[in-house]
Amino acid sequence: MALRLRPACVTDLPSIYRGEQDYIRRWEPGHEEAWRLQLERHLTCWVENFDRLTVAIIEEQFAGYCLWTPEQDCAELCTINVSEAYRRRGIGQALVDAYAVAARQHGFTCLRLSVRPDNPARLLYERAGFVCVGSGANDYLRYESQG
Ligand SMILES: CC(C)(COP(=O)(O)OP(=O)(O)OC[C@H]1O[C@@H](n2cnc3c(N)ncnc32)[C@H](O)[C@@H]1OP(=O)(O)O)[C@@H](O)C(=O)NCCC(=O)NCCS
Repeated sequence: MALRLRPACVTDLPSIYRGEQDYIRRWEPGHEEAWRLQLERHLTCWVENFDRLTVAIIEEQFAGYCLWTPEQDCAELCTINVSEAYRRRGIGQALVDAYAVAARQHGFTCLRLSVRPDNPARLLYERAGFVCVGSGANDYLRYESQG
């Protein structure tokens, strides 16, 4: 399996949109309508942070993405998604590693993210060195990694 990570391009946006929609439907179905109403805001965020949006490609197929943004003195992982057919092959780990490297290259020593307590993505983050530091909005767990 030849995995390639590259910066996002505008033609990735439909796949990213579908990934975000799949996440909402799987994990926050009650929020889908609100998410859709905020679509313009989400799109603006993706485009404004295009240089922090990384895409995973396997054999020329779109396989996943992640996006981070600067939030005060931390680099926050806003979203990460691997297409279902490609999960548990290390792509999520590769995307988290790429985010950590890019954030540190931009001078951030604090990396942070939020995750639902029942989302096994927690295990991915813990394996990557993130530590739970409490809970925040909607009881999402807050994780940080320093270094
Ligand atoms: C979370 C997600 C990005 C993980 O992507 P992935 O490519 O499957 O992750 P990896 O293969 O790199 O997993 C690395 C490690 O994380 C842990 N892990 C990842 N997914 C897991 C799962 N569903 N159950 C248990 N452990 C899991 C495991 O330790 C795994 O190592 P292993 O496969 O050797 O056991 C993917 O499941 C996804 O897109 N989920 C939907 C979107 C989402 O929930 N994003 C997170 C929002 S906070």
